[in-house]
Amino acid sequence: MTDTAANAAPADTTTADTAANAAPADATTPESATAADGARRTGPVGVGVIGAGVISDQYLSNLTVFPDVRVLFIADIDLPRAAAQAEKWGVPGSGTVEELLAHNDIEIVVNLTIPAAHVEVAQQVLAAGKHVWGEKPYALDRESATQLRDAAVAAGTTVSVAPDTFLGAGLQTALRTIRDGRIGAPLNGLTLFQSPGPESWHPSPEFLFAVGAGPLFDIGPYYLTTLVQVFGPVSKVTATASKARATRVIGSGPKAGTEFPVEVPTNHSALIEFEGGGSAQSVFSFESTRGRTGFVEIAGETGTVVFPDPNEFDGDTELYAAGAEEPETMPAVGSTYSRGTGVVDLARSIRAGVGNRVPGALAFHVLDVMVSIAESAERGEPVLVESTVDPSPTLPEGWDPAESTLA
Ligand SMILES: NC(=O)c1ccc[n+]([C@@H]2O[C@H](COP(=O)([O-])OP(=O)(O)OC[C@H]3O[C@@H](n4cnc5c(N)ncnc54)[C@H](O)[C@@H]3O)[C@@H](O)[C@H]2O)c1
Repeated sequence: MTDTAANAAPADTTTADTAANAAPADATTPESATAADGARRTGPVGVGVIGAGVISDQYLSNLTVFPDVRVLFIADIDLPRAAAQAEKWGVPGSGTVEELLAHNDIEIVVNLTIPAAHVEVAQQVLAAGKHVWGEKPYALDRESATQLRDAAVAAGTTVSVAPDTFLGAGLQTALRTIRDGRIGAPLNGLTLFQSPGPESWHPSPEFLFAVGAGPLFDIGPYYLTTLVQVFGPVSKVTATASKARATRVIGSGPKAGTEFPVEVPTNHSALIEFEGGGSAQSVFSFESTRGRTGFVEIAGETGTVVFPDPNEFDGDTELYAAGAEEPETMPAVGSTYSRGTGVVDLARSIRAGVGNRVPGALAFHVLDVMVSIAESAERGEPVLVESTVDPSPTLPEGWDPAESTLA
């Protein structure tokens, strides 16, 4: 299940991470042994999953068929839940986080815990000398994000964070259209995500209305990551926010009918400016009874591109070229595998000793942008964004996460 569906109704980079991957800090300490070994080991990369909740099914359905990775263990604070997912997906081990981290063949840990636990769990993984692929957001604030980034560099490991949707055929095709010059220079973007909110379908939706979520931090990463891929890094944001209700009611599962507090704004509207020129307007809302999601349009000098949903890995692109009577529809070209795609890319990058295509610096920048949008709305003034990152290179059309490249 994707966020959008659920909410609506039921060539390598040079980053700090890259350097860290290429030159592990200290190969002699037990803590860094696994990460340091990555480029010297051969064969598929061992993966452990922490967090056996709603989204783990989608990850496991892909990770258990991609030949370049082997899922070896699932951990959760809810041990029966971890065991049930291990049995369902044929994963050999399950148990506690400590047991997972002690597993010597696990090199990447996929962190599918709730946002409030992301940094604490990721720090534990780094301390065990393993690489992290995490669900969004990177962290809840700049301070803990910076500590995590610094810890990764010091340990010679990578902290990469979703979304990886831009590796999918849909967004790759849209990005290729722009990078091929079909609309000239991109000038402005318009993005819209509005829904009634996810409490109707998620059985434990409290975290989606707590610090680290709300529509800005839960859904914003898909739209903001896409905008950064189009325009490059964000330099300044100006925003407003609102909160429709102080409490909401769980709509499904064993806790249905339970009221819970809404801790964060449920609507943000942002004006976003980019370092290299261009701007975008974005709405992130859990306040509309009219579901309208997945809207991304980029207008350029000579045309407008309508993107597919940035929370999906597939979908057509439409090009409205200047002077053309009809839009041109471009079917998605590339991989339509979903979540877990970025984990395979990370696995291959570890073996190759190079940076991966969803670098930690990207999620760090997107987190910085989201925090800046929240601050701008609180203070009623523009906020300058200090972090930066380069867009990732376009993938070759035939790139395939299901190909066996590490056997
Ligand atoms: N549900 C979706 O549709 C969806 C889609 C995309 C991304 N995500 C992201 O995935 C992450 C998880 O979402 P979810 O919907 O699966 O949540 P969930 O509440 O269903 O599952 C989270 C799991 O993590 C476990 N957990 C929490 N803290 C832990 C800790 N410290 N150590 C070990 N286990 C711990 C919980 O027991 C639970 O089983 C979130 O960051 C969310 O933003 C969710």
